[in-house]
Amino acid sequence: VQAKELLNNCVLFGSLQDDIAQRMKETFDLEFLKTSTLDQFGVRCDPHHPCVILPVTANSCVLSVKKMVSHLQQEDVVGSLKETFIPRTGPTSVFGLDTIAATTTEVVLTSSEVDAMAVSQETRRPAIALPKGFSSLPQEALPSLERFKTIILWFGDDVRAWEAAKLFSKKLGSKRCHIIRPSIDDPGPVTALTQGLKLSTILNKARPISHDSIVSFAQLRQEVLSQFLHSEQVAGVKWKRYPVLNKLLKGHRRGELTVFTGPTGSGKTTFMSEYSLDLCMQGVNTLWGSFEINNVRLGKMMLTQFAQKNMAKNLDMFDIYADHFQNLPMYFMTFHGQESIKKVVDAMSHAVYVHDIAHVVLDNLQFMMGAGGSEWSDRFMKQDSIVAACRKFATYMNCHVTLVIHPRKEKESEDLTTASVFGTAKATQEADNVLILQDKRLTSVRGRKYLQVTKNRFDGELGL
Ligand SMILES: Nc1ncnc2c1ncn2[C@@H]1O[C@H](COP(=O)(O)OP(=O)(O)O)[C@@H](O)[C@H]1O
Ligand SMILES: [Mg+2]
Repeated sequence: VQAKELLNNCVLFGSLQDDIAQRMKETFDLEFLKTSTLDQFGVRCDPHHPCVILPVTANSCVLSVKKMVSHLQQEDVVGSLKETFIPRTGPTSVFGLDTIAATTTEVVLTSSEVDAMAVSQETRRPAIALPKGFSSLPQEALPSLERFKTIILWFGDDVRAWEAAKLFSKKLGSKRCHIIRPSIDDPGPVTALTQGLKLSTILNKARPISHDSIVSFAQLRQEVLSQFLHSEQVAGVKWKRYPVLNKLLKGHRRGELTVFTGPTGSGKTTFMSEYSLDLCMQGVNTLWGSFEINNVRLGKMMLTQFAQKNMAKNLDMFDIYADHFQNLPMYFMTFHGQESIKKVVDAMSHAVYVHDIAHVVLDNLQFMMGAGGSEWSDRFMKQDSIVAACRKFATYMNCHVTLVIHPRKEKESEDLTTASVFGTAKATQEADNVLILQDKRLTSVRGRKYLQVTKNRFDGELGL
């Protein structure tokens, strides 16, 4: 209802005076789009405010809108376009579906609305866009895409886009997915247009996403080049709050397994909460499995870390922070205490499929295994099988898994090492990263607490 009202208060670009329409396009970097293209996609604007509305519709019915407000009048603020979704829960379908005839069987899927409009305008080929960029493909959108026999994914020259394309093609069915391989010669639609390239030429380079078990270097070549060109992106997402971690680990990458240990009470859960929140706030879709403390307690802690305020003393601001927090791609599994690894992996797989999860945190392995009075050899075997399941999951789902494991009982005066992780050596052998929270407060009054990287498969750099 709110989305519809907003649309009703706004007008199509075609009904604006030419100079006003032009100014609006300039404000929102839409100069390369014709008014007729914007109108075709139902894009509207508020003639009195710098505000553009991008609707997601199905059968002429408005499902949601993306509202873009510009703060460009304040000259000191550069490029500040604020985007919000109405309703807050976000889009449930793709942008541009209503511009396509019912009989059409081929479509170009882009990662932004402007890209889709550029493709449609320049090539006359049907085009749609993911309203949340390549961070997610809404599960609810899948049925409406079923009718297409061919879907061409054109996400541009970006390593993350390439990863997303491979992930989404699994979801859409790789048989019908074609892809424009990322390369500097074939950038995204809007970039291509501004560089004066012919969009139809690039579009003709679309090839099926190959899913054979054997590839030649020729097929990998573009991807290898792209990795060299974007080494920063290959290194992963950087933490905002942990510069030293960035220096050592270079970033947080998909498909890796991290083992995290530290003495009881040293603050593993607290740290893991902030560590994952930091990444989540930068668009790393996160799934938490908190087997030790319940989700309400975790949520309370995380909201405090998010607000960087004592919420109990700032309850009047609860709604403001909670509203923002709610929009983060953060999900929680409802397991608590002992749980079978099969059920947990099932839930994790489902979440990757539905919510495009890129990071799963399991806190912690001992609670997940339960106390159980079994023999130590049984426990070691059980633990190894959980580690193996996590390793396999991380690799095959291309999702980062962080596993918190208690250390074995050792003399408190000694530093923990990679070998202190409970169980057999399997956990640290399988892990790409091993992080240890050292806590010297336990043995010395002035002792400090610090994080140590004792294994780093990405480039081997270790440190404190
Ligand atoms: N950096 C920190 N500064 C102050 N207190 C902390 C810090 N990290 C954790 N704590 C407190 O220490 C206690 C134990 O933390 P927790 O994260 O549950 O440890 P663990 O998961 O290692 O057992 C909690 O009461 C928590 O509030
Ligand atoms: Mg804990």
